[in-house]
Amino acid sequence: MSELNVKEINFDQLFKQISPEEISDNVFTLVGKDFTVITAGKKDHYNSMIGSGGGLGLLFMKPTTWCILRADRYTLEIIQKEQTYTLSYFPNEYKKQILFLGSKSGRDSEKMKEVELTSLQTPSGDVSFKEARLIIECRLTALTTANPNDFYTQETKDYIDEAYKEANQYRKLIFGEITHVWVKK
Ligand SMILES: Cc1cc2nc3c(=O)[nH]c(=O)nc-3n(C[C@H](O)[C@H](O)[C@H](O)COP(=O)(O)O)c2cc1C
Repeated sequence: MSELNVKEINFDQLFKQISPEEISDNVFTLVGKDFTVITAGKKDHYNSMIGSGGGLGLLFMKPTTWCILRADRYTLEIIQKEQTYTLSYFPNEYKKQILFLGSKSGRDSEKMKEVELTSLQTPSGDVSFKEARLIIECRLTALTTANPNDFYTQETKDYIDEAYKEANQYRKLIFGEITHVWVKK
């Protein structure tokens, strides 16, 4: 496995920890327009993808995030293995770089070496990026399969069936308890 380049940056100089209640972003803008960079793995081997669905809220009283991933995403494979991951949000000026993470799979490319972002380790040993403005670290709580029989509108059923046709598997919904939140100082 090729060596990746996580910079030994002093995390605390760049980011300050806040509570989930202190996240001031509008969730629809955050997830739907800024997009989420989902990163799983540790400094020796990690992978990121971009997501445009999901949200934040409470699950069984715990601050929780959720994302919808196609079952064949390499990032999902690493999330299942490590059971922790980060969701990172960037200023608009990094749109090109973050879209690159959605352009090809890390399973069969060197995209994490090629991406023009600086990886860094969180204090808990997960990976995010120096350029992020908001980092949400999660512990995997649940991974469920989106079954069209559990959905009640034709539109959502069609959406789920479409992913099945593409990947031969239904999409996965992942829920992660928020363990840390950091914002750029
Ligand atoms: C704007 C945008 C939004 C995306 N949203 C999602 C998403 O919500 N779920 C998903 O599974 N893939 C989504 N993708 C596709 C993945 O990011 C893409 O397939 C990525 O290359 C997967 O990488 P991986 O296999 O290395 O994990 C999105 C791509 C773009 C460009």
